[in-house]
Amino acid sequence: MSGRGVRSIRGMNDILPGDASAWQTLERVCRETFAAYGYQPIRLPLLERTELFTRAVGEVTDIVEKEMYTFEDRGGDSVSLRPEGTAGCVRAGIEHGLLHNQVQRFWYAGPMFRYERPQKGRYRQFHQFGVEAYGLIGPDVDAEQIALCARLWRRLGLTGLRLEINSLGTVEERQDYRRELMAYFSDRVDELDEDSRRRLERNPMRILDSKNPEMRPVIAAAPAFEDSLGPESREHFDGLRARLDAMGIDYTVNPRLVRGLDYYTRTVFEWLTDQLGAQDAVCSGGRYDGLVDQLGGSPTPAVGFALGVERLVALIQDQGTAPDEVAPHAYLVHRGGDAGRDAMLLAETLRDALPHLRLHTHAGGGSFKSQFKRADRSGAALALVMGEEEAAQGVVQIKHLRVDQETEQVGRDELPDRLGRYLAGPGGNDEHKEQR
Ligand code: HAM
Repeated sequence: MSGRGVRSIRGMNDILPGDASAWQTLERVCRETFAAYGYQPIRLPLLERTELFTRAVGEVTDIVEKEMYTFEDRGGDSVSLRPEGTAGCVRAGIEHGLLHNQVQRFWYAGPMFRYERPQKGRYRQFHQFGVEAYGLIGPDVDAEQIALCARLWRRLGLTGLRLEINSLGTVEERQDYRRELMAYFSDRVDELDEDSRRRLERNPMRILDSKNPEMRPVIAAAPAFEDSLGPESREHFDGLRARLDAMGIDYTVNPRLVRGLDYYTRTVFEWLTDQLGAQDAVCSGGRYDGLVDQLGGSPTPAVGFALGVERLVALIQDQGTAPDEVAPHAYLVHRGGDAGRDAMLLAETLRDALPHLRLHTHAGGGSFKSQFKRADRSGAALALVMGEEEAAQGVVQIKHLRVDQETEQVGRDELPDRLGRYLAGPGGNDEHKEQR
């Protein structure tokens, strides 16, 4: 008797072939766009010392207090699955001497882990693409990263994304603001929920981040950060806005945008959608000029963001803008005499000539009828047909499975050319054709 099946862990998803096309489109467009702005890939461990995150993300944050997968490894060290990528990126940059007096632009991708309550768009293992720039102090690079995001959405054909920005000032300005907030909330302790009371002493800015709707009125009336901004931070923020205006990128300033991680200074931003319910942030980030220093490097300005892959994939699928990058272009059916052997040789020749061709060669025999059924189910646009007669004559039939177009017969030698033209044409879904 077989045992009970083992199920996956809640909030940790299998990503099945049916979703592969949207994932691959997003991954490819990210890679190409990051490269277009001079960002270089960096690959970082999934597991880090717990201390890295408590120091970087902040001890009094939801992530560190409630959401990390933390355990002792067999050597007795406390380690955590990374809840985000910025801390590890800074750690690696310091460790390999990449940040001191240098300008660097890095990107990374991969799974992140947070023990949150799973719901649509919120998972315990989720994926990010992240971008980090080091050594640049001015608002130009903040603006450039936001323009990079806007270009990603354009290339993915996504619409309806809103940009919110805010400035959190310098570390010192935040301390002033913190005192002000503490005074304000201390006078209103009765209106605070349990979480917020606990945060009042150690991290009052986190109260602004509360998701509890009952807290809304008291948060709405709290002093705004704007008034604590010093002249340089104000100038930085104005510089960012002027650049966004010049590039025609729409935004709203949201003075309550504080972000859930403690390392931010000055610019913070978030791209939001109305199409995914409560989990409305698809991409977020900002400047963190104090973090490199705080983690033991020499003071280095930094700015970055990360996008939520699952959320963007859902938008891509809802808005139907992904070219198919997975279904075969062609399905080779064959039957009788030498056709099977010839088909295999032909398939290899085609793959030699056209490395981007996605070709599925039928295996397992069966009638033409059953092979065509398979071809249809595979999603292929074309069936290449080689029967006994075609094999003998050295020709192949090209049958269009998705559009009403006459069957063509071409010589085997001409086939690579003919398919090459097909891949480059409108039906070919060639990899590089979406909007720029
Ligand atoms: P974050 O806002 O915590 O920032 O996450 C970035 C994005 O990851 C969010 O906008 C969202 O799309 C996605 N995300 C976050 N949590 C989940 C979840 N549980 N399930 C699905 N998607 C999720 C950071 O992680 C910073 N490290 C970003 C950054 C880079 N700041 C500067 N550089």
